[in-house]
Amino acid sequence: MNKKSKILSTPINKSTSSLMDDFNSSIDVDKRLIEEDIAVTSAHVKALVKLKVISKKEALTIQKGLNSILNDHKKGRLKFSKKNEDIHMNVESYLNKKIGNVANKIHTGRSRNDQVATDTRLWTIKASKNLQEEIKNLMKSILNQARGNEKTIIPGFTHLQVAQPVSLAHHLIAYLEMFKRDLNYFDFCINNSDENVLGSAALAGSNYNLDIGLLNKSLHFSKSKNNSMDGVSDRDFCIYFLHASSLTATHLSKLSSELILWSSNFMKLFNISSEYSTGSSIMPQKRNPDSLELVRSKTNSIRIKSIELSNIVSNLPLTYFKDFQEDKRIIFDCYDELISCIKIMEEVIKKSNFEKSIGRDLCNNYFATATDLADYLVIEKKIPFRDSYKIIADIVNYAQKKNKNLSQIKIDEYQKFQKSIDKNIYKYVDINKSLSRKKTPMSSNPKEVSKVIRKYIKFLRIR
Ligand code: ARG
Repeated sequence: MNKKSKILSTPINKSTSSLMDDFNSSIDVDKRLIEEDIAVTSAHVKALVKLKVISKKEALTIQKGLNSILNDHKKGRLKFSKKNEDIHMNVESYLNKKIGNVANKIHTGRSRNDQVATDTRLWTIKASKNLQEEIKNLMKSILNQARGNEKTIIPGFTHLQVAQPVSLAHHLIAYLEMFKRDLNYFDFCINNSDENVLGSAALAGSNYNLDIGLLNKSLHFSKSKNNSMDGVSDRDFCIYFLHASSLTATHLSKLSSELILWSSNFMKLFNISSEYSTGSSIMPQKRNPDSLELVRSKTNSIRIKSIELSNIVSNLPLTYFKDFQEDKRIIFDCYDELISCIKIMEEVIKKSNFEKSIGRDLCNNYFATATDLADYLVIEKKIPFRDSYKIIADIVNYAQKKNKNLSQIKIDEYQKFQKSIDKNIYKYVDINKSLSRKKTPMSSNPKEVSKVIRKYIKFLRIR
């Protein structure tokens, strides 16, 4: 396309330099909005028909033209031009080529400012829903690993020190809770994107009495903006999208770190699938959890994206500035990076297996039932907790010196620390019994864990 066919050549600046055209153009990024942009124009045309700005016949021609553009796009036949800056001008220019001057009516009573905000809102809703689906798939793979492992003992850690026995299922469900919160966060994001801003026009509102109800209905918005200036400059919905993504990324990174640690030679609690690990170029024995390491690393760039957009927005007085053009690059990159990390994580969890026999030994070797023993003295011997804590701490020190675990300590050795200790103490030493001793609904008691698993089966509708 030559310079003359450029739609926008302003009276002030008739010809921009090609360097500027390149710099100014966003088509390489916002071509992704083509479906949204066409939907928004279709809706706007309906509103213009109601106002008789466009006749029904013209509207039919326009709609056919738009459908044909969409069709060309689906067949990969569209060639966009940088001269036409962005997706909005490119679609208008294509339409003009297809149907002629009738196309010149579509931009009546609107501006690219409300158009781009609307397109982006529709995209954010779609992207959030896709991410929710992927998060649910990941949750299903976690849930499948949790099921049947309500009694599979692993050590629970605090400060990376063996703390108390928990079950593999209980541990994995903690991640289901995180990802469920992420689903809620994306709901929040969808709710806030679901606000029609068409009718805001450039900033002050439209000179045409566009039927907002009709626009809302055509584009499936449940509400519309109260204020046109906010309409064209509100990018909070994008920031919510980035925040929600950032939190999902945080949870993915946490899970990666955990599984990398569990797959280490020192823990051996997780055998990563060979499909998702790689060998070393020099050390033949190695299997490196590269997939998880990359998830951990890539999620960092997702997390900083909300800061980038907040910085853009916070520097701007009302209303529209070209600065906003950068929002799309940020949210699109965020989406692409996040969806690939979720998909990889889902597959890693699905294809790998958790080591089920080692956890018990780790618990035994590192005195994981010491708290249960302190509670034994409280419950059965009526010793105040602070005193029982001290007695058990002394017993653990003794066991460490003797290189024994708590089940290897004889009853008379126990009695040296507290006379009233009897054989019942071994019930409290027993790692298996520790789980079912837990009383609260959120505890690692296998009965409670099974209930939570049933809730998630229902929630994710799997059998
Ligand atoms: N490509 C622009 C964007 O993404 C569209 C809006 C242009 N509006 C303007 N007043 N220059 O923000």
